[in-house]
Amino acid sequence: MINISLDTQTVLAGVSMGLVVFYVIKRMRYRLPPGPWCIPLIGHYKVYSSNGMHRKIAELSKVYGPVVRLSFGPTSMIFLNDAEVVLEAMVKKKADFAGRPKFASGEMFSEGGKDIALSTYSPTWKYHRKIAGKAIRHYLQGDLLEKMIQNNMDKFLDKMAEEKDPFIIRNHVDLMVYHQLYTMCFGEKRAIDDPEVKTFLELDEALIKDFGTGLLEDIVPYLKDIYPTTRWKNLSSKMDTLLNILRAKFKQHVDKFEPGINRDFIDSLLISRQEAENEGDEETLEKLDDTHLVQTISDIFFAGVDTTRFSIDWFVYFMTKHPEIQSKCQEEIDRVVGTERPSMKHRDTLHFTEACMFETMRLGNVAGLGAPHMTICDSQVGGYDIPKGTTVFINFWALHHDTKSWKEPEKFHPYRYLDENGKFKPAKPDSWLPFSAGRRVCLGETIAKPEILLMCANLLQRFEIRLPDGVKPNPECKMTGFGIELPSDYKIVVKERI
Ligand code: HEM
Repeated sequence: MINISLDTQTVLAGVSMGLVVFYVIKRMRYRLPPGPWCIPLIGHYKVYSSNGMHRKIAELSKVYGPVVRLSFGPTSMIFLNDAEVVLEAMVKKKADFAGRPKFASGEMFSEGGKDIALSTYSPTWKYHRKIAGKAIRHYLQGDLLEKMIQNNMDKFLDKMAEEKDPFIIRNHVDLMVYHQLYTMCFGEKRAIDDPEVKTFLELDEALIKDFGTGLLEDIVPYLKDIYPTTRWKNLSSKMDTLLNILRAKFKQHVDKFEPGINRDFIDSLLISRQEAENEGDEETLEKLDDTHLVQTISDIFFAGVDTTRFSIDWFVYFMTKHPEIQSKCQEEIDRVVGTERPSMKHRDTLHFTEACMFETMRLGNVAGLGAPHMTICDSQVGGYDIPKGTTVFINFWALHHDTKSWKEPEKFHPYRYLDENGKFKPAKPDSWLPFSAGRRVCLGETIAKPEILLMCANLLQRFEIRLPDGVKPNPECKMTGFGIELPSDYKIVVKERI
């Protein structure tokens, strides 16, 4: 008789070995995308800790192909680097890639995935996206958007006209866009130097510096419960302050709500809740609690404000870098708009100015690596298997610099979008995807395009913008957030045209 006596160590070693074999066999079922070797558990530290991560990943895709696998700490992630694989994953594969992964700062930001941008694919997400989309479309009716832009911009253009010395336009543009979103979301028109708007901007600036820029808690989530880092504590307290402001604004709207009167984005959401109440639709009402609605407002505000202000900053940068292109925009604005103010009715005829905006959106990487996607089932892309639960990113920078799609991709060349008569070509290039594609396509695309175009047209109608005498454009750009790029600080001078 054989005496089988196993000590604890042997049992543990056996179980661990079994688990490793099980994991390896499970992974072998999949043909995973390629990527460089890395130290297990640490991952590709040099990539994820670097400032220009998106550029490094684009370089790697030249070696490994458009679908690249990298490890962030112990977690393996996929990066899509050309339009073909992005459209295959996001459009052809329907909802396969429409999930969102959970990560510690995202969960904190969205109060446990109760927003639109960070919550995963679900009936509740779909419902909130639908009512937010309806609320956004409200602004595209009649002259609501153009009146809002003109009223808001007048204050800031007057302020810029008072500048006697070269100045940083970003400081004006940031406030201008914040005021715009204040009117849209909260129905408030505030004084140009209003301290609350300034506090909002400062809090947002501080948040984007930390959010998505390699927080330790996003790699080792349990840290936040046992020994949170100072960065985590700062982020959490700033987020609380911001959400409290939004909660207070929401409550003011609930208290003053009058059925049928739609003053702003919050009212639009409250009208949807009222409709569900009138219909006695209990299931829908459950999804419309205050936390979800405040989170929707937070999404619209923050997803809209940063991308818009960064885009205008880039637009002005390119206009100062290419004065001949600026003059061509102004010639078009004078011809099409004349002495009126640029408005929605001119939109379809401002071909050259719009082409400049498209080129700005291609080159200014304002959404960085976008929001992470997650596969909600086993799927495939580019001939590789992507197991359920994998985090997937779109490398917008790689798409917009892909030499297969763009001749001289580094060059600001608005003519790419125009035909021989100077009219917008009927179809945009497939690789032009600043708003992403598929189920998670940017919810604000329909408002962002006219909004940014009208703001830029208003600016160029009034001012000739140039760099101070003797100053050359700075080709360096600032990296901020998760692959977001901004022009380095630059000063301009403006001269009234009319
Ligand atoms: C130049 C301006 C803008 C750019 C380049 C931009 C780009 C993007 C990108 C790349 C995404 C991620 C899509 C994905 O996950 O694949 C996104 C998502 C989103 N954007 Fe925008 N955006 C802009 C303006 C706006 C504006 C003005 C709003 C609101 C009024 C907005 C609201 C949203 C929302 C709510 C989402 C999340 C959608 C979801 O997860 O279902 N964006 N945007």
